[in-house]
Amino acid sequence: MDEHDDTDNIPSNPSGNRPFADVLRVNLERRKFLKSSASLAAGSAVFGSGVLSAFPTTASAQTQNPGDSLIGFTPLSLADGAGPDPAIAPDYQFSVILPWGDPIVPGGPAFKIPVDPDDQTQQIGIGHDGMCYFPILDPDAPRAGWDELSDSNPWLYAKLSEYGEDSYGDFNGVLCLNNEFGGNSHVLRKPSPESLDDVRISQHAHGVTIVQLANQDGNWATVHSSYARRIHVNTPVEFSGPAADHPALHNAAMNEPRGTVNNCANGYTPWGTYLTCEENFQFYFGTEDESYVPSSDQRRYGIRRQGFSYNWHLFDERFDLANPDYAGEINRFGWIVEIDPFNPDAKPIKRTALGRKKNECAAFHVATDGHAVVYIGDDTIFDYVYKYVSAEPWREMMDNGESPLDRGTLYCARFNDDGTGDWLELSMANPVIASAFSDLGQMLVMTRKAADLAGATPMDRPEWLAVAPDGRVYVTCTNNAGRNNEGFQRRSGRAVDTGPNAANPLTPNPDGHIIRWVETYGHSGTKFEWETFLTAQDTHGTEESFSDPDGLYADPDGRLFIETDGGQKDGLQNQLLVADPATREIKRLFTGVPECEITGFAVTPNRKTMFINVQHPGRGNPAVTSFPSPYGSGDIPRDATIVITRKDGGVVGS
Ligand code: FEO
Ligand code: CA
Ligand code: CA
Ligand code: CA
Repeated sequence: MDEHDDTDNIPSNPSGNRPFADVLRVNLERRKFLKSSASLAAGSAVFGSGVLSAFPTTASAQTQNPGDSLIGFTPLSLADGAGPDPAIAPDYQFSVILPWGDPIVPGGPAFKIPVDPDDQTQQIGIGHDGMCYFPILDPDAPRAGWDELSDSNPWLYAKLSEYGEDSYGDFNGVLCLNNEFGGNSHVLRKPSPESLDDVRISQHAHGVTIVQLANQDGNWATVHSSYARRIHVNTPVEFSGPAADHPALHNAAMNEPRGTVNNCANGYTPWGTYLTCEENFQFYFGTEDESYVPSSDQRRYGIRRQGFSYNWHLFDERFDLANPDYAGEINRFGWIVEIDPFNPDAKPIKRTALGRKKNECAAFHVATDGHAVVYIGDDTIFDYVYKYVSAEPWREMMDNGESPLDRGTLYCARFNDDGTGDWLELSMANPVIASAFSDLGQMLVMTRKAADLAGATPMDRPEWLAVAPDGRVYVTCTNNAGRNNEGFQRRSGRAVDTGPNAANPLTPNPDGHIIRWVETYGHSGTKFEWETFLTAQDTHGTEESFSDPDGLYADPDGRLFIETDGGQKDGLQNQLLVADPATREIKRLFTGVPECEITGFAVTPNRKTMFINVQHPGRGNPAVTSFPSPYGSGDIPRDATIVITRKDGGVVGS
């Protein structure tokens, strides 16, 4: 069973936001635009009746010679991307590292079934998803260089290129890896926990894994490291920002805040920290008390009495919705969490100013005015795109001893049908917000309701965002089977508008699309101009075929890497593709195994090594795949990280 996708497809937005009057007309015009846009030259995106001059010329168009391709590699063909084993484009090679259950340092507890709950706290978690590679620039002073990082974007690689080709950090780094989820049937080998020990196994398999990696003679492996640690559902954490002390987070039990869960995609900051995003936290809460009725606030987050099959509440009262001692526990989840990869004693910090929702990702960007900007997708059908802007330039705030992620403004996105967009302020300065919430903390706990009131555009499951070097922002809208689907509307019992809008014109939208925009007045501004970049169904039947775009990474040369999660067409497994935004050409780089998703990106500074993840291979069923063991071996499949290099040692994606 796919617990993950099931709940993403349950609408929990009753707001009826539908900002466009004439959606059918818009839908038709948009489709015409999409069909014609593929042939347009870069920098002159024709938009309906006018020319959208705000779109800058792409970096690739500026630097490329005519005839040069940003993605020159020979693609993996449809036929070769369809098999039961992973496959890679002929110019590339891959290896597999960091499978679920391996020790985080050499000599640690080895993988075994059944999993031991204590061992799992020293082993790699399951559900490999977003990640970041933090290069160690100087082995004697791993922090060296970080305080001088450039404000340019993507900051890490812009700065690290100054360290020269093939520096120490290209072979030595700390990897932060999200462990989003593993179903009980995968982790426990049974549908439901039968003891508190079983619950602990599951809890310890979730969270974040931090390992130190070294490349010796071309082989990447973990090394002994004081940085190696597991952060899981029982790890002490702290709260920061406007909702940190809000009564909604208090428990009569007075239990210390612990844990992060369902860690989906990620971000990283220019001050060298990792951001991990709590997505479907509602999976883990439920109650046997049949008289318990979730509040409307809880229903807005998809919370339901019976939970979602993890059943932690059977043995851990912290996750029992009806236990009055833990009434605030569920409000302690749904946040974006900052982790210091170089300080193993530092608690993860939940940054409440970024809002509580089903956070997919936290795409960090430094605006030209120095403000910290974080783009966030809230991945449920008919939910929203957000951005956070720090109150002051991030360096000034850091110099004053304040986190740029603790004081700022959260916005939700409205995509207008004329190709413009507005960032709608979610603060007590917005009258519609002030009339509904008693304080900013309360609003942040109920971010989704605030965005309903503000008038955000209901999207087709916004997942990852990425900021390209030309400043364009991309978002994957992975799919939405519920668009214009009366059955969905009836079953949800809610007034959510399931009709199309300009940015989400397909009804239904089973295969997804990618939208991009330019921030009209810079990334800290409140207006943007958007267009549809790609619609997945337009690729079907071609060598560029893909569906369900999810993971996104824009490299410093302007390539856009796209990862998929969902039923691929044309016989394909889920895949990694690379697009040239200027030409809209797409090439397939890698395909996974049956019933996996491909997700997560990490790269070394020289970009000659890329790490991606195979998540939930076969959903734990060895009859489907034994990845990374050979098919037919009977081994339980294990989530793992794929190391991708070019055979000629070049930049990955080229
Ligand atoms: Fe965790 Fe929406 O993917
Ligand atoms: Ca996933
Ligand atoms: Ca995802
Ligand atoms: Ca997905």
